This record gives sequence, C-alpha cells and structure tokens, in this order.
Amino acid sequence: MSTAPSDIERTHLAWLQSELHRHAHAYYVLDAPSVPDAEYDRLFQELQALEARYPQLATADSPTQRVGGQTLEGFVKVRHRVAMLSIRTETDIEESGALAFDARVRRELGLAESDPAVEYTAELKFDGLAINLRYEGGRLMQAATRGDGEVGEDVTQNVRLIHDVPVRLAGDAPQVLEVRGEVYMRRADFDRLNEVQRQRIERGVKGEKTFVNPRNAAAGAVRQLDPAIARRRPLSFFVYGLGELTPPDDGGPRFISQFQTLLTLNSWGFPVAEQTRICKGGAALAAFHREIGTLRAALPYDIDGVVYKVDDFALQKRLGFVTREPRWAVAHKYPAQEQIARLLGIDVQVGRTGKLTPVARLEPVFVGGTTVSNVTLHNLFDLRRKKVRIGDQVIVRRAGDVIPEIVGLVPAVRSVYVPNFRMPGHCPVCGSAVVREKGEVNHRCSGGLFCGAQRKEALLHYAQRRAVEIDGLGDKLVDQLVEAGLIHTLPDLYRLDLATLSGLDRMADKSAKNLLDALENSKRTTLPRFLYGLGIRHVGEATAKDLARHFGGLDAVIAASESELLEVPDVGPIVAKSIRTFFEQPHNLEVVSDLRELGVVWEEGAPGKPPALPLSGKTFVITGALPSLSREDARELLEAAGAKVAGSVSKKTSYVVAGAEAGSKLDKARALGVVVIDEAELKELLNGRA
Ligand code: IVH
Repeated sequence: MSTAPSDIERTHLAWLQSELHRHAHAYYVLDAPSVPDAEYDRLFQELQALEARYPQLATADSPTQRVGGQTLEGFVKVRHRVAMLSIRTETDIEESGALAFDARVRRELGLAESDPAVEYTAELKFDGLAINLRYEGGRLMQAATRGDGEVGEDVTQNVRLIHDVPVRLAGDAPQVLEVRGEVYMRRADFDRLNEVQRQRIERGVKGEKTFVNPRNAAAGAVRQLDPAIARRRPLSFFVYGLGELTPPDDGGPRFISQFQTLLTLNSWGFPVAEQTRICKGGAALAAFHREIGTLRAALPYDIDGVVYKVDDFALQKRLGFVTREPRWAVAHKYPAQEQIARLLGIDVQVGRTGKLTPVARLEPVFVGGTTVSNVTLHNLFDLRRKKVRIGDQVIVRRAGDVIPEIVGLVPAVRSVYVPNFRMPGHCPVCGSAVVREKGEVNHRCSGGLFCGAQRKEALLHYAQRRAVEIDGLGDKLVDQLVEAGLIHTLPDLYRLDLATLSGLDRMADKSAKNLLDALENSKRTTLPRFLYGLGIRHVGEATAKDLARHFGGLDAVIAASESELLEVPDVGPIVAKSIRTFFEQPHNLEVVSDLRELGVVWEEGAPGKPPALPLSGKTFVITGALPSLSREDARELLEAAGAKVAGSVSKKTSYVVAGAEAGSKLDKARALGVVVIDEAELKELLNGRA
C-alpha cells in the first residue's frame, strides 16, 4: 500500500537521483569515478527502496531505470542489435545470497522441492568494462562499449590492440557472431602504468594523471581517442556471453547452455577464466562464492564478485527479464575494496633509517576485508599529488594483500580553510633538524646517532666489523639492550657494567663478560672506522678514509666548512652538506665527545695527500641492474679504487657500467661516445687488468 510521500522524502529522493546522475556521469562518461562503488551502491539501493515504496516517483529518467552510461563526444555511435543488459546485484553479500538466488529461480520456474537441483554456470565478476565484439566471416569488424545499453561507442581501433581479443576466429564460427565480455587491466600492468604516469608527471609532461584503480585505467584506455596513448595501456579480455548471431541461433546445437557456449567460444580463441564451472543447486553456488572469496586476493586481476547464470538457455528463456535485468542471472559481490573515510589527521613516522613518512590517520573503515585506520602517504610529494587535507573524505583502497592506499579524494568544497600539510622542520622523535637533499623525495632526520627511532640501526652500524667492531653485538642483543632501556645513545654502550648486563634475561655471566671485553677492545680504533661508524649519510668506508687522510684528525673534520670539505677528493656537494649538517647537530657533537671521554681513541696524523689509486681521476656512472653486484656495492668498490661515481652521464664520464634494463643513461652514453662496460668488465678494471 503506497501512501503519499512526505516533503522530506520527496526532497531526499530528488537529491538521491541527482547525486546518482552526477556519479554515473563521472564514472561512465568521464572515466573518473567520484565515489567508490560501495557508496554508489548504497545510494542506489536507498533510492530503489524509496521508489518501491512510492512507485509514482520512479520516473523514466531515474537512475534506477537506466543501464548506466551515455556516450562521449568524439566516438562514432553504435546501436546494439541486441541490447546490452545489466545484471541484478544480490544485496546479501553473505553466502546466504547464493541460496536466496537459487530459491528465487526455483520458485519462478515453479519447481517443487522434490525436483532436481538447477544447474548454474558460476563465473567471476570481472571489474572492467563491458564490450561487444562483432565478427563477420570470422573477422573482428567492430568493438563497441555498452554505453546506455542501446547505443555504445565504436572503439574498434583500441580493442584491436588487446592481445587477448582474437581478430580472426579459429574454427567454424557463424557468419555473424557477437560476443560480450569484459576488458580489464591486470594489477601488475596497472602498477606499471601508474609508475610510468608518475614519472611523466614528475618530468612535467602536461595533462597526465595517475589512475585510481585498474578498472578506471582500463575504461580510460578503451575510450582513449589518441591511439598512440591507447597503445601504451596494457589491456586484457575475458568473454562471458553472446550478442547477435546469424543465422538466428537461439538454441541451435552450438549454443544450448551457458557453459557449453563458453567452451565453444574458448575453442575459437576467446579467453575464459579457468575458475568458471557448473554448480548444481544453491549450496554449490555458496561454496563457489566462498572458494573464490579466499582466492580473490591471489588473482592477478580485480573481481568484485561472482556471477551465477542459469545454465540451460531454454530455462533462461522461461525465466525472462524484469525491466532490463534477466531473472536468470545475478551478481553476488564481495566486500568492497574501496571505501570512503574521513582524514582525521596526518602523523609523521620516523623509520629505522631516519626517513620521515607522513601517515594518514583515518576514521576506521572496513575495506578489502579488514578495518583500516592508518595509511601511509609515502612522502610529501605523494601527499601533495593526492591533494588531501585534514577533514577531507578520501577514497581508501585495499586490494588483495596489498597495503592499503589513499587513491583519491571525494570532491567537495572545504567549508573551512585547512592549510596544506608541511613536513616538520624538526624530527618528531628526537628534535634534530629534518633535511631533504636535492633530487630526493624523502625527508630525513639528521640525528642518526641520537634519534630514538634510529637507535638500533645506529648501534648496529657502529658495532659492525667494518666500523668500530664490537664482537658479539648483533641484532638480538641490540634489541634487548634498547628495549630494556639500558641504551639511549651510542655512548651508553660504554656505560654498561657487569651487574646490569647479568641482570638481563638469557644473559649468562660469561656472555656479559664477553660483551664487556668486546666493548673494551673496540675502544682502540682508527679514525676512518670511527668516522664510518658514526653513520653520517653518504659517508661510506672510502669517504671516511679520504676524510681521515685529508684532515688528519677528527676536530679538523668537524670544523671543516662545506667548501673545505669539497677539497677532499671525491667529496661532492651532497656529501659535503651531509657532513656539515651532521656536525651542526649539537646532539651529534655531544655523542662524539662522550665517546672520546669514555675512552674511544685512535691515532691522529698530519693532513696528507691521497695515494694514487688504480682508478683515481676516473668517473663512472652505473645504470640498470647488474647481475651480481648491487649498485651500492659497485659504488663502494669503485670508490675504494679511487674512482668517482656520478649520477648522470656527461662528456667527462670515463665509463658507463650498464646492467639489465638500463635506460636513458645508456642512450646518452652511446650518443656521447662514452665507453660502456658490463659487470664482468668492471670487475676486470677493479682487479687492475684491462
Ligand atoms: S553477464 C545479461 N558475466 O558486470 C547479463 N557480466 O551488469 C549480462 N561483468 O558491466 C552480463 N563479469 O560487464 C556478466 N561473468 C560476467 C561478468 C559480467 C563482469 C560485468 C558486465 C557488466 C556488469 C553486469
């Protein structure tokens, strides 16, 4: 019984309709969704419920009465010979949704309880966009988007680029064959594409953007008017149904059921997902839903649910349609992988190596199967690119086991002025100056030795064999000492005593004694080891040696200005600045003087000239991945041999060491006629041969 709607209900209904129109336009026409699907679905269901209560308000132009998209200017329109319909979504996302569908089908077919189970084809619900492919005489003649279901867009050119789409059919396909399926983008392809997009944006290429999710990227690629751009966007395809067929073939020998149709299409060259199977009855559908649910994260592409279709075409015909949705099929979804959440604040975390990471604190949301309340924003530039400010509604995505991300912003007018987030000038953990080097995206805390967040890393670095060497002070012991609150900064190491150490868990007297001996032994060291052990960024073993040789003593290094540091062979502006910043932190100076007071000593000498090394005066550039050496290893070996390692190729470069997937640096070397060598040749040079 429908009563008259109240004014509030009327207003709310109008609002829902206009919101849904707006979101549908953003999604289907602009390929730039303005809200996550889950939010769209929620509004849609709310509207459906209202319209069910007041059918007089369900006008023909309501979003509930239409299939979705409109066409975009710029593409030739295609009228579908057989309308491309939509599919009903089972609202119950629990397993019971499968049982409810089966019960409905049985009721509508008039089956008694004693009748046998209905057979269904259970498929994946791919998260991409629907395409109709028309073949005539076995050749692909036309590919069209769904559009509003009646009229779509001709995207043949772009669809021809998809490797999964056969352009000629193997076997005895009918004269006219239309197949329907989903164009999608694999997650790995999506990540690669977004990485390329990010680089293009960073290089200042105009009009580029990153994509929110693989479906959005796929839709953008298919409807890309510039074929040169479409070509760079890797797409895939799965088939799931039929369109027009000639001769009219609704029940001929080849197409009598959904499953057998898919097998036939597969034999002609169309990809069908391997998980597709026949399920007998509702319980089997529920099991399928459960099984695919656990598999979902491991699939190389996104699915947002599964689809059940009554298998037998004769039964499908009997069931027919309600408005524009078949009664014989249903989409059964999984928890959404994207949700909206309010950004409550931005914290800054300091990592073990001193890197500062902005972390978004969110109003907790259930997304991709877990509750998320913290999401890393990687660095300041990532945050700026996403344009998020505190108080905004953001779109959080968690697909598979991938760490959750903020992929976008729900566009809205900010009602209050919120300043742009800035990185703190001082480390939130230790108060040391925060620095960002030229060309680097990351901000770092310069209080390496002093900073609580970096304490463990700093201790391990200082204690390693190549530095000051404290025998037996490894990962576990460092954890134990720091967590017991015995060590805050490096000098505390030398303040440990037998009584305190023996009081620790799992610490026998003997081990305590050994550690104290090792600490005592470590006090006699050398200046290069000590300098290296301080963990100054960019000061490796070779640079530490150069500094010691050049300045003779530690105080001279501490006192050296940037320009004096630049006189040291192989010290460039970045290294010089890093050394200066380090010794400008009062905490660091304190640590150094405490260490000396506690008895750490080394021999100091007169400032000297560097000895001639085999590769002195040569400049190298390393590019690509070397087969066995990491870039850092290669750099250290080269520097130890007296060479300089630069970041970019110029006429002054002596050698370019190129590994796998070397890019523009290799091209530049070739253009400039710089000698290019591989890892084997590098090793020969280092060994003094060649
Ligand atoms: S069948 C009449 N099967 O989901 C039935 N659709 O509204 C037509 N989709 O955008 C659709 N996987 O592109 C069907 N295995 C599948 C599907 C599937 C994804 C998409 C389809 C459309 C929506 C259905």
